[in-house]
Amino acid sequence: MMQRAKEKILVFTGAGVSAESGLKTFRDSGGLWESMRIEEVATPEAWERDPAKVLDFYNMRRKAAAQAKPNPAHLAIAQLETAFDVAIVTQNVDDLHERAGSSRVIRLHGNLSEAKSELDPSYRIPYPLEGLSLDDRCPRGGRLRPHIVWFGEAVENYELALEEVSTAGRMLVVGTSLSVYPAAGLVSYARPDAEKVLVAMDIDACPEGFEFFKGRAGEILPKLAQKWLSEKNR
Ligand code: APR
Repeated sequence: MMQRAKEKILVFTGAGVSAESGLKTFRDSGGLWESMRIEEVATPEAWERDPAKVLDFYNMRRKAAAQAKPNPAHLAIAQLETAFDVAIVTQNVDDLHERAGSSRVIRLHGNLSEAKSELDPSYRIPYPLEGLSLDDRCPRGGRLRPHIVWFGEAVENYELALEEVSTAGRMLVVGTSLSVYPAAGLVSYARPDAEKVLVAMDIDACPEGFEFFKGRAGEILPKLAQKWLSEKNR
């Protein structure tokens, strides 16, 4: 029997979706950029100037991500796949969406699970839990660095993300301050007729056409997913 195509939901996430898993966000109070400057640890210039400091920063984040568990927000997003065609576009570098069971995660800023050669970006190894050291080298002798998109580097998968955003019937934006481009610009490509929802603790400016739900993703998303799933199964 012909199956009707499932309606597509595009979920666009930022650090706030992992906050209740115990991972720091960037710009909230207590965030990562409160205790460390971007220029010190998240740019190619920082890597050239003080690679040990950069590795310390990402080694710490790698360990934190490995110790974190998916929270009810990640689980609710994964549950949507029972009735919808869900694509996640994430700015995050943890693997909590995958560990929650989501099957389609498009990453814009790289991931903490892989390290790559500074000479040959296609040379990848799993990011060691004990951390990277400056002695770690690729076969060509290049240093190994986190597979993270630093400020000033090109984001990954942007065209694919754009295609997914512009064709989804619903767009759910969760836990992002929408302050970093080009990622944040994706919200303006949502279909005008799409249902558009944004969940955050606060937002400077809610994008045009989005309904803002103020609060914790871990509380709001399970209710929202339940509502959408029950509507679907009517
Ligand atoms: N539930 C929902 N939203 C939350 C929660 C929570 N429990 N906790 C925080 N938030 C929201 C905040 O209200 C804020 O809008 O998450 C957002 C966090 O914003 P940022 O710290 O700026 O994180 P993000 O938007 O992901 O940053 C984007 O900046 O530094 C770069 O590459 C880095 O991918 C990152 C990008």
